[in-house]
Amino acid sequence: MHHPSRRMLAATAAAVLATGVGLVAANEANAAAGCRVVYTVNQWSTGFTGDIALTNLGDPISNGWRLEWNFAGNQRVTQGWSGTFAQSGQHVTVTNPSWSASLPTNQSVSLGFNADYSGTNATPAQFTLNGTVCTGSTTPGPSPSDPGPSPSDPGPSAPPPPGNKVDNPYASAQGYRNPEWQAKANGEPGGSRVANNPTAVWLDRIAAIEGTDDSSSNGSMGVRDHLDEALRQGAGYIQFVIYNLPGRDCSALASNGELGVNDLPRYKSEYIDPIARIMADSKYANLRIINIVEIDSLPNLVTNTNVATCATMKANGGYVQGIGYALQKLGALPNGYNYVDAAHHGWIGWDSNFGPSAQQMLAAAQASGSVNNVTGFITNTANYSALTEPNFTINTSVNGTSVRQSKWLDWNQYVDELTFAQAFRNQLVSVGFSSTIGMLIDTSRNGWGGSARPTGPSTATNVDTFVNQSKIDRRIHAGNWCNQSGAGLGERPRANPATGIDAYVWVKPPGESDGSSTLIPNDEGKGFDRMCDPTYTGNERNGNNPTGALSGAPISGAWFSAQFRELMANAYPPLS
Ligand code: BGC
Repeated sequence: MHHPSRRMLAATAAAVLATGVGLVAANEANAAAGCRVVYTVNQWSTGFTGDIALTNLGDPISNGWRLEWNFAGNQRVTQGWSGTFAQSGQHVTVTNPSWSASLPTNQSVSLGFNADYSGTNATPAQFTLNGTVCTGSTTPGPSPSDPGPSPSDPGPSAPPPPGNKVDNPYASAQGYRNPEWQAKANGEPGGSRVANNPTAVWLDRIAAIEGTDDSSSNGSMGVRDHLDEALRQGAGYIQFVIYNLPGRDCSALASNGELGVNDLPRYKSEYIDPIARIMADSKYANLRIINIVEIDSLPNLVTNTNVATCATMKANGGYVQGIGYALQKLGALPNGYNYVDAAHHGWIGWDSNFGPSAQQMLAAAQASGSVNNVTGFITNTANYSALTEPNFTINTSVNGTSVRQSKWLDWNQYVDELTFAQAFRNQLVSVGFSSTIGMLIDTSRNGWGGSARPTGPSTATNVDTFVNQSKIDRRIHAGNWCNQSGAGLGERPRANPATGIDAYVWVKPPGESDGSSTLIPNDEGKGFDRMCDPTYTGNERNGNNPTGALSGAPISGAWFSAQFRELMANAYPPLS
C-alpha cells in the first residue's frame, strides 16, 4: 500500500471530454452509449491520488461495467477502491465491484486510486466505458432500418490510426459481411432476415488465400478480395479464421486438412507468411483485422492425446509452434487482433482440464514471443453449447442433490458458455495473460429456441429428470458436435454484451455443414466422422450416446440448406 507522505496543497483538476470519436455501439439496434469521466489528481513528486467520477450517459447497464484508459507515462496504480483495478503496461482496467454491476442512465460512480510515477503526470487522453469512448455526450445506435455507413462515409466505424490497437476491436465498429455467405443465406426462404450479420471468413486451405474457382465448399473470394470488399463496405472490422495446422482436427475426421503431421514448415511459409503479407498492405491499415486462431487444436493436446494424431502433434510441437508462429506474424500487424480458440464448457469445464488448458494456451502464446500477441480467446466455436441456461445454475440442487451430479453435467463446473467464458478469462489472466484480454463467444448456432425449448424449470425431484427437462440445450450429450438436430441461431453478433466478453460473434457461418453424414469422397482431405452419422451409437467422448446429427449433410464447410432452415426456425432470441 502506498501512503503519500507529502501532498500538494492544491488539487490539479482536469476534465476529460470530447476526443471527436463517435460513440455508436455497433449492432445494438437503437441502443445509445455514452459516458463522461471527470479525472482529478492530488499529486506530489513521486506519487498521486486519482479520483474519477464516471457517469453513464447511455442506456442502463445491468450486467457489469468496465472503465479503461492508458497512462501516457510510467504511472503505476498501487491501490484502488470502489472497483477492481488491473494494470498491464500503461493500460488500466477497472471493473465494477461484484456487489454493484449496474449503472443506470445518468448515474455516477466515484472511484479512486493511489499511484506512483516519475517525470510528468499527464492526464490520460481517453477513457472508455464498456468499450465506448467517453466524450461527454451520447449518440444513438443504428436503427434497424439504418443501412449503415456508406463507403464514402466511414462515420463512426472509422477506427483509430494504425499502430494504436484498441482494447476491443469490435467496439463501435460495423462488422464485415461476407457476400458469399450472404448470397447463400439470401437464397433460402426468409434468409434475408439474417443475411446482414457479420460472419467470419475461414481460410481452411492454402488455396483459400488466393481464392479458388471451386465454390462447392467455401467460396471463391481470396483474402485480398475480402479485404477490398470490406473497404468498399466501409466496415470497421473483418474476421478471418486461421485453420490449416499440420495434422489438423487430430481427434476427429470431418475437418482433417491438407497438411500432414510433419508439415509445419509449409504451414509457416505457404500459409501464414502469405496471409500476413496481404494483411500488412497499408491499404488496409484502417481496418481492424481479427484473426481467430486454430479451432480445437490446443484443447485436443490437453484432453485427447489418447488419439494417435493428437499424441503426435503434442510430441512434435506442430500445434504449439504453428500457433506461436501465427500469433507472432499476425500480432505484429498494427491493426491485427488475435483470438485463440478455447473450446467450450462441455469440453474443458472440468477441474482436471480447465487449468491445464490455460497452461497449454500460455505455452503457445509464449512460443510467439509475447503473451501480448493475444487479444483474447473465443469459446464455443462451431459448437452448440447454450449461452445461458435460464432454468438452473451450477449451484442448483434437486432434492439435496447437486445438478453437477446429473448425467448431463457429470461433475462439470459450468452449465453454460457465459459463466465458463468469464471464469476461463480469469484463469487465463491468473496464469500470465494480460488483464486486458477479452472473450468472444460463437453464438451462431446455440440459440435453442422453437417449440422444444423448456419454458421454465422442471418440477421433477430426480436430478437427471430435472436437468433433462429444464435444460434449453436439447442435445443428447454435450460431447455431440456435428450438425445438431433442434439447434437454432443464437444471439446476433454484438460488442460488449457482458463483463469480460468483447463480443458475441458468428464465426461458424450458419448453414455450413460440420461434416458429411455418410462418406463423400472429396479433394480437401475431409474424412467421414461417424459423429456426423445419425445412425451411429457414439464413442467414449460422447458417453456412447446417439450423435443427434441431422441426416443428408454434405462435407464440412459446404452449404446445408435443411440445417439453415432449421436454425432459422429455432432461432433464440427469435427472429424479428
Ligand atoms: C470446415 C471448414 C469450413 C468451416 C466453416 C469447418 O468445419 O472444416 O472447411 O471452412 O467449417 O464452415
